[in-house]
Amino acid sequence: MSTSTTEKVGGRKPRWGFIATVLVLGAVVAVGVLALLVDIFTKRTEAQQPYFQVVQLTDTTYDPAVWGQNFPLQYEGWLKTQEMPADEQLLRTPTADDPRTVMAKSKLEADPRLVTMWQGYAFSVEYNEPRGHMYMLEDQRLVKRVTMFKQPGACLNCHASLPEVVNTLGNGDAAAGWAAMNKMPYSEATTYAQHPVGCIDCHDPATMKLRVTRPAFIEGIKEYKASEAGGSVANFDVNTMASAKEMRTYVCAQCHVEYYFAGDEKTLTFPWEKGLTVNDAMAYYDEIGWSDFTHKLTGAPVIKAQHPDFETFSQGVHASAGVTCADCHMPYKREGAAKITDHQVASPMRTNETINTTCLTCHRTSEEEMRARVDTIHNRYEETKNTAFDALDQLIADIVKARENGTDQARIEEAWAYQRQAQFIVDYVTSENSRGFHAPAYTNQILNQATDAARRGQLALLGQTYPPASAPSPAPVPEYTPPPASPTPSPQAPETASAPTTP
Ligand code: HEC
Ligand code: HEC
Ligand code: HEC
Ligand code: HEC
Ligand code: HEC
Repeated sequence: MSTSTTEKVGGRKPRWGFIATVLVLGAVVAVGVLALLVDIFTKRTEAQQPYFQVVQLTDTTYDPAVWGQNFPLQYEGWLKTQEMPADEQLLRTPTADDPRTVMAKSKLEADPRLVTMWQGYAFSVEYNEPRGHMYMLEDQRLVKRVTMFKQPGACLNCHASLPEVVNTLGNGDAAAGWAAMNKMPYSEATTYAQHPVGCIDCHDPATMKLRVTRPAFIEGIKEYKASEAGGSVANFDVNTMASAKEMRTYVCAQCHVEYYFAGDEKTLTFPWEKGLTVNDAMAYYDEIGWSDFTHKLTGAPVIKAQHPDFETFSQGVHASAGVTCADCHMPYKREGAAKITDHQVASPMRTNETINTTCLTCHRTSEEEMRARVDTIHNRYEETKNTAFDALDQLIADIVKARENGTDQARIEEAWAYQRQAQFIVDYVTSENSRGFHAPAYTNQILNQATDAARRGQLALLGQTYPPASAPSPAPVPEYTPPPASPTPSPQAPETASAPTTP
């Protein structure tokens, strides 16, 4: 190259061969640099947006397989929700009515106290462990609670991909579609459903942003946010006002929550007007006079609780530390240069690798240690639950006996109120799916309350009543004599300022 300068300086005619060489060399370098830039650029965009748009997704792209053409890795994870660990499988011989060869295990067989607690209600006939999302529609269609009892279309709210169903039923008007589906008989409504929860239920097809599609959650979270416990926010609109982090929990809380069907319209409703605790829900149901069934053995009007995973999680330290459902059940994982969200929604404890991609991103310790901590929580939970559940079981047996013995109706009714309370809490806690993990201290606290209620019910049958646990002591308060002036406050100062601890 150095010769080129001298050659030019002479003002001679340009040498075309040389110029061509420079041009070619330059082009090669430029192409090289460009290639490198392109490579860096694609890697970077891949990390943010790991896909090539193969198909145009719209509001009517219902089939997850079509979304899978743009997002093969997420689609693969979604399909994997059909994987079941061997020890969770119940093998069965298929029949004409029920083609399943594998089911989840029965919870009723594992704990017959559930059958006693639900006497007179469909749950006492069949109730199983949950399994992966891919089974949600099939398991609902085939459960005896559906095949032997009349259920409304509202059951579909949390068991199918719904944009297609409600657009069809409402002729494009989603609100009309929801209303029509809810009150339709289940057997009819389910013929409109094709897929378990799909991409379009959690993602906006134009932007891929997370979104909430279920009116029950949109309404429920608005009520909760407006309440004092929720921060007194007026007119909360989840899809425009929730943070990206909150959405990583809210997409799950569309379904993993306690609910009931309100009125003849069978509108799916979440009892969150007073807050998200079990006592807030109970106060709500008492106020509207709601009971799910009359207990067949005792005659008590009682409430059935269903999977309050979000509400329970909300009372724990992970929620207050800003951890989300997705952090533990849909962790990030590396695929080449891209960091993607694992769409195989499942237990984070299933392998050392999943403990690693979830817990260990925050807890700097070993997989074994995390497993041991979860086992400890599960074991303590089982013990506390057994104490409460036995107490409830004994209360039910005692009410049955008392009715046979012609015990005074007033005492029976007092015992019913305690059964209602103990039963709702025990049901709430056993229907919650983490076996105590989502909020260990809170779960044990409310189980303690249930044990207390059950024992009070037994005492009420004997004519003995005590003031509520949270009320101040009935003993007369001794007259207060100020201590002699002292520079340091007495360590035994009476705790008169402390608020009652039980809501
Ligand atoms: C608010 C959402 C929601 C509604 C409404 C709902 N489910 Fe579910 N269902 C869930 C969730 C979440 C699970 C998984 C967690 C669990 O099993 O507790 C589940 C699990 C199930 C299962 C599998 C485990 C079991 O219970 O045996 C069946 C079957 C089922 N539901 C049937 C129904 C029927 C029937 C209805 C209507 C009466 C209904 N569901 C309404 C959310 C819902
Ligand atoms: C449309 C309602 C719906 C949504 C949304 C939903 N789930 Fe589920 N989920 C269910 C149902 C129903 C089942 C039980 C299916 C069955 O047993 O057939 C279930 C099962 C599960 C299970 C048990 C899986 C297993 O392998 O045992 C986990 C864990 C879970 N869901 C977590 C989540 C998380 C986390 C989210 C949010 C990212 C979420 N779900 C969103 C309805 C839903
Ligand atoms: C800090 C981590 C963490 C967070 C956050 C979390 N979970 Fe869990 N979850 C767990 C663990 C641990 C278990 C117990 C799994 C086991 O024992 O295999 C569990 C169990 C479950 C199960 C039962 C799974 C099964 O295999 O039967 C469901 C359903 C569930 N969680 C849903 C949720 C939902 C919905 C949220 C958010 C509202 C949430 N979880 C938030 C860690 C978490
Ligand atoms: C139950 C809700 C749910 C369903 C169903 C679901 N996703 Fe997601 N998806 C999530 C969550 C949560 C994230 C994390 C988003 C965030 O933090 O911003 C996510 C992230 C993504 C992303 C962003 C890139 C990444 O991996 O983080 C893509 C792309 C995606 N999902 C594609 C899909 C496709 C394709 C399907 C259907 C096959 C699907 N999702 C079904 C909840 C869901
Ligand atoms: C995104 C971060 C994050 C993830 C992921 C996470 N944790 Fe935590 N965990 C925390 C924080 C923060 C605390 C509260 C620590 C404190 O206040 O001392 C906590 C507390 C705990 C506690 C004490 C609970 C209590 O009620 O006192 C246990 C046990 C625990 N985590 C287990 C787990 C397990 C098991 C997993 C995985 C399934 C997990 N964590 C995933 C951040 C996380």
